[in-house]
Amino acid sequence: MPRVTFHPSGKSGDIPEKKSLLEAAQLLGVDLAHECGGFASCSTCRVVVEDGHENLTGIEFEEEDMMDLAALLPPHRLACQAKVLGDVTVIIPGESR
Ligand code: FES
Repeated sequence: MPRVTFHPSGKSGDIPEKKSLLEAAQLLGVDLAHECGGFASCSTCRVVVEDGHENLTGIEFEEEDMMDLAALLPPHRLACQAKVLGDVTVIIPGESR
């Protein structure tokens, strides 16, 4: 199973493939905002991908649209939309905790 690590807490764990980063955070007990409930319509779940960008699913239309509205660029991702395919390390910015 892919290993997901969240900073600044440093919490990490093995997560079933194709879970979203938001689901990974919840499974590992990491606080991560998600005001819209995971529907790509709030951007509060934003994270910064530090390592393993290639191990996440690609940015699809809904995520791209919300990121444009929120003026976010990669290496930001919306944690509710990015699904884990391999090892990845992300930083949760202060506004998403
Ligand atoms: S939880 Fe709202 S965009 Fe991810």
